[in-house]
Amino acid sequence: MNRSILLPLVVLLLAACNGDTGTEHACYAFNKQGALIRPTDYRSWVFAGTGTTPLSHDSTVLFPDFQNIYIDPESYRFWKENGYYREGTILVKELIRKGDTIAPIGKGYWQGEAYSLSATIKDTAHFPHAPGGWEYFKFTDEAQGVLAETSAALGAACISCHRAAKAGFGPFTELYMPLRDARGFGKGNPENSSRRKGLRPKGIQGAGKGQNIP
Ligand code: HEC
Repeated sequence: MNRSILLPLVVLLLAACNGDTGTEHACYAFNKQGALIRPTDYRSWVFAGTGTTPLSHDSTVLFPDFQNIYIDPESYRFWKENGYYREGTILVKELIRKGDTIAPIGKGYWQGEAYSLSATIKDTAHFPHAPGGWEYFKFTDEAQGVLAETSAALGAACISCHRAAKAGFGPFTELYMPLRDARGFGKGNPENSSRRKGLRPKGIQGAGKGQNIP
């Protein structure tokens, strides 16, 4: 479908996506054929976590080189206050190529350019047979070299591996530091605490070179 026709529709559908906990207020929408419309504005959502799997480290990795994960703000709030994902949660994964490998702080890996976009949603009403209601979508159209406007549900191809998540289905929450910290935290925000789980006072075993540097 033409994006100029699609966009006002999406804006209308998503206008209320930060107000309630039901799927009618979810930050995603389907087209008439039941395909998921490509999520927009997700870099303005809550940053859920990131993974780094550089090809130079492992030539067999499935998703080189970086993965940035975002969650919609209302679902983040719900997760933080209740410790479980609401119906209508959406997480988006953006794959990013390796960029610079040297910077003023030393040698390493920095993010280059984005190249792929996928999403998972928890929607038991639409997908009663998906484990936990989590269904999967991918918007990368490699043949055209662009992102697709919509994605059909991909089901088993993705679910088969997501069964390896600690919960037995759904998101790999255990790999996402901001989501781990937020789980069931309550009304405040975990990042406002002066405590950091990775921070150890000097002199304590394990506090090696570099570990106490900001
Ligand atoms: C071989 C295992 C595997 C397969 C197959 C797989 N994934 Fe994932 N996926 C992962 C892992 C591991 C993560 C953790 C984040 C990362 O990539 O760093 C993840 C994370 C995600 C996320 C971020 C939220 C979450 O669920 O943790 C999305 C969205 C996602 N995958 C979509 C898909 C889609 C769409 C497919 C099918 C086309 C798919 N995945 C197939 C292993 C897999």
